[in-house]
Amino acid sequence: MKKIAILASGNGSNAVQILAYFLEKNTAQVAAVLSNKKEAPVLQKFEEKRIPAIHFTSNTQLSSELENLQVDYVVLAGYLKLIPVDLIQQYKDRMVNIHPSLLPNYGGKGMYGMNVHKAVLAANETVSGITIHLVNEEFDKGRKLFQASVQIGDAESTETIAQRIQKLEHTHYPRIIEKLVNNEF
Ligand code: GRF
Repeated sequence: MKKIAILASGNGSNAVQILAYFLEKNTAQVAAVLSNKKEAPVLQKFEEKRIPAIHFTSNTQLSSELENLQVDYVVLAGYLKLIPVDLIQQYKDRMVNIHPSLLPNYGGKGMYGMNVHKAVLAANETVSGITIHLVNEEFDKGRKLFQASVQIGDAESTETIAQRIQKLEHTHYPRIIEKLVNNEF
């Protein structure tokens, strides 16, 4: 069975969904979650489920942890640090990210979390959405695997957009990872 490592810096709601999906379906194994943030809630959530939860303090350590785990795929789920180029190359076509907008719109530097939804709202957009894409050397520009959109109503706030986008992420990310692992792209 293919092994997956999840990299996350924060809350980890996507990571938890991905774990639950693969525990149930058994089509891949989530070997561990790794975080650059010691206090990230995601680490505790995985510990509670008895899945390895690793805090790392350098990119060198990250590389060696992934090596030790012998993972086939790396899944970014709210990971807020830049991935070093050697790691991107090592996991070419095997590293995937999710972004809470319809890329190429609202991507790039500074565009993460609520910043994305604020910018979308400020520009009076009528649609937003999610993008799941492979990771390459250019920030938010790897090959797109999947997009889904949401309509933005008149009474929308950044919070309501965020909630709806997150729901989409939870629905689609695990299943797109499964397709990637099954070589269906
Ligand atoms: C998600 O909205 C994802 O699009 C972005 O970071 C957020 C992570 O949320 N890359 P969570 O930590 O999975 O709850």
